[in-house]
Amino acid sequence: MDKRIVVSRAVPEPALDVLRQAGKVHVCPQDRPLTVPELHEAVRGAHAIVTMLHDRVDADLVAAAGPQLEVVANVAVGYDNIDVPAVTERGVIVTNTPGVLVDATADLALGLLLMVTRRLGEGERLLRARRPWTFHLDFMLGTGLQNKILGIVGLGDIGQVVARRARAFGMNIAYTGRRRAAAEVEAELDARFLSQDELLRTADVVSLHCPLTEQTRHLIDEAALATMKPTAVLVNTSRGPVVDEQALAKALREGRIGGAALDVFEHEPEVEPALLDLDNVVVAPHLGSATTETRTAMAELAARNVAEILAGHEPPNPVHR
Ligand code: DGY
Repeated sequence: MDKRIVVSRAVPEPALDVLRQAGKVHVCPQDRPLTVPELHEAVRGAHAIVTMLHDRVDADLVAAAGPQLEVVANVAVGYDNIDVPAVTERGVIVTNTPGVLVDATADLALGLLLMVTRRLGEGERLLRARRPWTFHLDFMLGTGLQNKILGIVGLGDIGQVVARRARAFGMNIAYTGRRRAAAEVEAELDARFLSQDELLRTADVVSLHCPLTEQTRHLIDEAALATMKPTAVLVNTSRGPVVDEQALAKALREGRIGGAALDVFEHEPEVEPALLDLDNVVVAPHLGSATTETRTAMAELAARNVAEILAGHEPPNPVHR
């Protein structure tokens, strides 16, 4: 009997090809995040579930699927939507998609950084509003990146690539995190390890590349924002809840930091309305990994994880609790 594979939201064809070889595939037809009851209904009898970052995966979902469930494959590197201990305790393997989205996400972080420091969103809005303008020497001045300090929170795979790209713009690299990077990585990037407090005090740009965990939730809160330079900008391509959005909006409104560029939001897909009223804020709708190549690679990797597990093999990307 074919094993049942439930995919919570459409995935690219190459991933479906891999999944079809591994079992009988059901792709949920709703083109939106499913409600919890809808998801629980859809996964009944599944041996594998392919989930998106907006799907809540916990003991109740595993129970709804039934005891035959073998794997939950998240099409994302982040897995804060999954209660990993609760799921793995029930004998179900969780997998994610590291590696394949590093370049795309790093590119987007740099794009956002340039947008906020060079006021590109403001410039776009001015022209699209058909407002009059002429070239003059102090018109819409931004800030250069040369010799500025990029403070990276989390020098993992994505943080390292952001650092490498930022060095090409002449930036100096500082970083903080749970642990120090390998000596070769520090040497290659000429990266200084700082305490979080020192990093926030000295960085011209603070770029977040840490996962969302209980330790990093609201890492950037009112106190952290108060520590940053009044000219500093915050870039977030990690997870929205790492930043206290209310505190951020307040700090920006009061001119306590220079700007923010956000690809992720605390209550996605909602965006704190106060942020949208501010000219020194650049926003994007969670586009970090949104290239055709990357999204296809992510879905294919998730599918490969499913196929390996259903065939009784070790998957390439198990998430350990
Ligand atoms: C991830 O994979 O965690 C990203 O946020 C998706 O863009």
